[in-house]
Amino acid sequence: MAEATPMIELSGIDVTFKEADRTVSAVKQVDLTVNKGDIYGIVGYSGAGKSTLVRVINQLQLQTNGTVTVNGQRLDQLHGKALRQARTKIGMIFQHFNLMNERTIGDNVRFPLLLGTTLSKQQQLDKVDELLALVGLSDKKNDYPAQLSGGQKQRVAIARALANDPEILISDEATSALDPKTTGSILALLKRLNETLGLTVVLITHEMQAVKAICNRVAVMQSGEIIERGDLLTIFSNPKEQLTQEFIETSTQVDSALANVVSQPRIQQLGVDERLVVLSYAGASTDDPLIAQLYEQFKVTPNILFGNVEILQKTPVGTLGLVLSGTAVDDALAYVKGQGVHVRVIDVPKYRAELANKAAKANRGEGDA
Ligand SMILES: Nc1ncnc2c1ncn2[C@@H]1O[C@H](COP(=O)(O)OP(=O)(O)OP(=O)(O)O)[C@@H](O)[C@H]1O
Ligand SMILES: [Mg+2]
Repeated sequence: MAEATPMIELSGIDVTFKEADRTVSAVKQVDLTVNKGDIYGIVGYSGAGKSTLVRVINQLQLQTNGTVTVNGQRLDQLHGKALRQARTKIGMIFQHFNLMNERTIGDNVRFPLLLGTTLSKQQQLDKVDELLALVGLSDKKNDYPAQLSGGQKQRVAIARALANDPEILISDEATSALDPKTTGSILALLKRLNETLGLTVVLITHEMQAVKAICNRVAVMQSGEIIERGDLLTIFSNPKEQLTQEFIETSTQVDSALANVVSQPRIQQLGVDERLVVLSYAGASTDDPLIAQLYEQFKVTPNILFGNVEILQKTPVGTLGLVLSGTAVDDALAYVKGQGVHVRVIDVPKYRAELANKAAKANRGEGDA
């Protein structure tokens, strides 16, 4: 790992919107450092303040309090031409592509080059060719946006965002309108640009799957605050906050596996020496003969209900659903925790009540997302 150099430093950021009848605190006291070469995921439900926060990075949204430093330069102190110049080093892509429908693909990509750059016409056209080749769309130069698929339109938007050789690319829900396969190819493109151009990427999404695919760090936002952050493996194997856990579970199917398990009469009647637990672990602990230890050291019998291992950043991350039985079950769990494994003990009646509650809400159309 190269030494970390800060690329984006947000410090003490508040964003408050004053409206006639109310004040909305969209972002509250956020500190955030994104290092050069990071693909930094920001997740949160709708209204959490994600878009507002990233618009502060390029000063499209002005903060009420706080400082914004990008590549060592205080953007919050810049104005006019200097600010416009600094902004060209921060590309941005969106859910709805924002292409100009009456212009060709080539002209869409060329557009940022017409604004204040010093390139000759030929240099601009060469740059357009280079950018279209980079995103795999050389053959579409003379087509119009309406002739392209959603994934192709997003590639055009990416090419356009890269026209001024930015150091940072901000992606605000750029894959939210795409099917899973197309999403995968756009994420792979972002990863490739990160690796080949050294591009720093800030990826806003509500899909943990996307974070898992390419991010090395992640922050979880709720009600304008960052409630949890860290490197991908730590967050996935050892989430501290309930909301983080919820997001992770949407991407691992632990939620549906647990819902299935707690519907079984056997699980609803666990004895005093039995615990329903979900263990998650990253890296080395995967290889430990942990399950065998439970019996050998504590005479605790594990009954495996479900399990899953995935590879995140080349490291195995495992999840196991178990019923543990034995008089020393709590000692055994303490031991497991001591081995760096995240232990979640499921209170079955409480978990079932929460599920019923969620189902009732969904029926009334009050889902969170
Ligand atoms: N220009 C504005 N004026 C007033 N309120 C705003 C403005 N922009 C955002 N808000 C409010 O700030 C809060 C955060 O909005 P924001 O768009 O940043 O959320 P988000 O996390 O990006 O949500 P989504 O996932 O739906 O895009 C919301 O309550 C929103 O209504
Ligand atoms: Mg948003």
